Amino acid sequence: MHFESRTSTLKEILDALSNRNFNMIGVYGMGGIGKTTLVKEVGRQAKEYNLFEKVISAHVSRTPQIKEIQREIAEKIGLELAEQSHETVRAGRLLERLKKDTKILIILDDIWGSLALEAIGIPLADDIGGCKVLLTARSHDVLSSKMDCQKNIFVDVLNAKEAWSLFEKMTGDCIENGELKSVATEIVKECAGLPIAILPVAKALKNKSSLYVWKDALRQLKNKSLLGAAYSSLELSYYHLEDEDLGGEELRKTFLLIGYSYIRNVKDLLYHGMGLGLFQNINTVDEARDRAHTLVDKLKNSCLLLGGWRSEWFSMHDVVRDEEREKENEKSAKVNEKEKDAKDWESKLMKTIQANLLCGILNKASSSFYVLRVRWHW
Ligand SMILES: Nc1ncnc2c1ncn2[C@@H]1O[C@H](COP(=O)(O)OP(=O)(O)OP(=O)(O)O)[C@@H](O)[C@H]1O
Ligand SMILES: [Mg+2]
Repeated sequence: MHFESRTSTLKEILDALSNRNFNMIGVYGMGGIGKTTLVKEVGRQAKEYNLFEKVISAHVSRTPQIKEIQREIAEKIGLELAEQSHETVRAGRLLERLKKDTKILIILDDIWGSLALEAIGIPLADDIGGCKVLLTARSHDVLSSKMDCQKNIFVDVLNAKEAWSLFEKMTGDCIENGELKSVATEIVKECAGLPIAILPVAKALKNKSSLYVWKDALRQLKNKSLLGAAYSSLELSYYHLEDEDLGGEELRKTFLLIGYSYIRNVKDLLYHGMGLGLFQNINTVDEARDRAHTLVDKLKNSCLLLGGWRSEWFSMHDVVRDEEREKENEKSAKVNEKEKDAKDWESKLMKTIQANLLCGILNKASSSFYVLRVRWHW
């Protein structure tokens, strides 16, 4: 949705990108505020208004995969990079090629620490050629100290009017009812202008006409920190999955599986889901693939998963895992103990054991969103 506050930030970014003095520009703001959404729109407009001939985007994340970033860039400029070549060889080929191009914008989304652009193969623009780079991060410090951006632009929360319009658009006509409206106003206030808090709660309450459901939701959101509100709003959405036409249980298990095992694309969900017997009434791989796509779409529609830069990719907002992690210890103790033991096993055997464990956990915890606070690597 277009908002006044976002339009002015978007214009500020486009102005900075047009400025000859800047070749590295940063966009920062708290998690779930809308940075990725905003820079996607920047990329679209930059192309539309011919500020750049090509706009390339790559997701960096907390654990940057240099080869993956190189692959995304190479694909967009039609350069073939041998998969088996070393990163530095691939970087050399990218550098050589990108230096010849003049008007390329590279968007590197979600930076968490210093990232050597040369090691990826990104040449910064000078008078002869090269790229301009737009980075997003949650922290100003990462952009200014670690990445040396020349200009950093802040993305703020939505103002009260904008937050209300977003909520209203998602919930539809049902909030016109006088009593619901006053509870809805309170709910939006609790979400404090954070889209990642507003959207899931709005989707969860859409078409619910009982006042008590709304009041209950408000109670759950009250007295939470901003991140707490985002967490609670996702939690609410999770429990309301029951009402989906496709089995809510299957959706919830899928969500938990994605959370536990850090699945980020449909292919991996298919692989793990089939192994764990997650998909119900499925006979062939093709049927399972269709189901995996459908489940991901449903979770995206409920705002429990965020869309990635490519349609097959998705991510889970890390509010789900990070929030109030200290409270999780009691519940996670058993899981952590098993994880620690499992580390001694050969990796193949370990995977089997953990898959079984996971299966057991999913069965036991299928309705417990809380357990996702457990950070459990496998
Ligand atoms: N202007 C907007 N209109 C409608 N929805 C929005 C808007 N901005 C953000 N959202 C929604 O809010 C959610 C979070 O947005 P986004 O992923 O862009 O945040 P982010 O700042 O990139 O978060 P993170 O730091 O976790 O990467 C998404 O579901 C997105 O679709
Ligand atoms: Mg983002």
